[in-house]
Amino acid sequence: MSKDPSSNIDEIFDRYLDADTIVFKQREVLSPHYVPDILPHRDDKFEEMAKILAPALRGGAPSNIFIYGTTGTGKTAVTKHVLNKLEERAKSRNLAFKYSYMNCQHVDTKYRVLTQLCEDIGIDVPFTGLHFDVIYQKFKDAIDKMDTLHVAVLDEVDMLYHKSSESLYVLTRINSDLKKSKISIIGITNDVNFKETLDPRIRSSLSEEEMVFSPYTAEQLSDILTQRADVAFHKNVLEFGVINLCAAVGAQQHGDARRSLDLLRVSSELAERNGDEKVTEIHVRKAQQVIERNTVVEVLTSLPIQTKAVLQAIFIGEGKSDEIATGDVYEIYSKICKLVRLDILTARRVGDLINELDMLGIVTAQVISKGRYGRSKRIHLTVPPKQVREVIENDFRLSKIFEMDEF
Ligand SMILES: Nc1ncnc2c1ncn2[C@@H]1O[C@H](COP(=O)(O)OP(=O)(O)O)[C@@H](O)[C@H]1O
Ligand SMILES: [Mg+2]
Repeated sequence: MSKDPSSNIDEIFDRYLDADTIVFKQREVLSPHYVPDILPHRDDKFEEMAKILAPALRGGAPSNIFIYGTTGTGKTAVTKHVLNKLEERAKSRNLAFKYSYMNCQHVDTKYRVLTQLCEDIGIDVPFTGLHFDVIYQKFKDAIDKMDTLHVAVLDEVDMLYHKSSESLYVLTRINSDLKKSKISIIGITNDVNFKETLDPRIRSSLSEEEMVFSPYTAEQLSDILTQRADVAFHKNVLEFGVINLCAAVGAQQHGDARRSLDLLRVSSELAERNGDEKVTEIHVRKAQQVIERNTVVEVLTSLPIQTKAVLQAIFIGEGKSDEIATGDVYEIYSKICKLVRLDILTARRVGDLINELDMLGIVTAQVISKGRYGRSKRIHLTVPPKQVREVIENDFRLSKIFEMDEF
C-alpha cells in the first residue's frame, strides 16, 4: 500500500519543527523588532536621559534633546526604554504624560507629523482633505485642554528636515501657542554631521540638551550578544568563538550592534536550515557573505535606469576585455540606449554617473591619461559581476540586451 502523500508533508514539517528547537529556544529574541529589557553598557545613557526628562514627573517641561551617533549604537532602543519607564511612572501617579514615537523615514511631512500627534492623543483626523492650519488648530486646542506634557520623538529627524525643514520649525515653536500643556522634542539622527546643516534657529531650540552615543567596542558587543544569545539559544548551541566573531565584525562596522545581531541571527538560521546542531564560525562567514550580497543587490536594484545602463555597459565591457576606459563604456552605453530606446546622455554626464558609481563603491575609476580627448579613466567593477548581471536581468528594460547578438 502506498503511503498517504500528506504524511510525507507532515514529515517534512515535523522535521523542520524538530530541527527548529535544536538551535532556538526563543527565536524572536533575535528579530530586529525585539526590544530587550536590558541594554548592557548603556546605563550612563539611561541615567543621562532620565535626568533630563525627570522634571516631567513634577509637571515641568523637560528640555528638548538632540541625540546623535552612528547606526546601531542603541539610540532608538534607549530612548524608547526610558520613555516607557517614564510613562509607567507617570501613570502610577496619575500624572498627565504621554509620548509619541515617529520614524521620519515615513512621517516626513508636517501634515503627517501633526496627524500622528493627533492620533496619539486620541483625536481623529481624516487621512487627507483637511488644511494643515485646521489640523494644527485642532491639535493645539485638544492638547491644551488636557493640561499635559507630551514628548514627541522624531527618530531619523534628518529625513524630515531635508524634506520639510518647516515642519521642524513649526514644532519647535508650538509651545509659544500653548497655555497649559507643553511639548518636548527628542530628535534623533544617525548622521553625525547633521547638526551643522541645521538652520540655527531650529538648532538652538532642538539641542537644548545633547546626547552623543559612541560606537560599541568589540568587548561591549560581545556582552550584548551574549546576553541575547542566552535567551535565544539552547545551551551549548553556539560554538566557542561565534559570539566574538560576530562582535568583531560589528566593531569594524563603526561599532554597530544591529550588524552584529543580524550576523548572529543569519548564522544561526543557516545552521538550522542545514540541520546542523551547532552554530560555528563557518556559518558566520557564510552569513557575512549573505548579508553583504543582500546589501549590494539592494543598492544596485535601487539605481536609476540611466545609471543602471552605464553599469551594464561596464559589465559588458569587462566581459570582453581586461581593461576598459571611459570611452569604451560610453560607446557600449550609447548602443544600449539606442536598442532599448533610452535617451542618450552626453559623455560628460555619463562620466558623472561613473563617478557616482565610484563613490558608491560599485566601480573604481582611475585616471590613466590626459590625452587629446581629455581625461580618460580606467574603469573596473568592484562588486561581483554575477550580482550585477542578476540585478540587470531583473530590470525589464535592460534585460533584453543580454539576448541580443550585438553584445
Ligand atoms: N546596549 C544594548 N544592549 C542590547 N541590545 C542593544 C544595545 N544597543 C543596541 N541594541 C540592539 O541593537 C539594535 C540596534 O539598536 P538601535 O537602538 O536601533 O540603534 P540606533 O537607533 O542607534 O541605530 C537593536 O536591535 C537594539 O535592540
Ligand atoms: Mg535608530
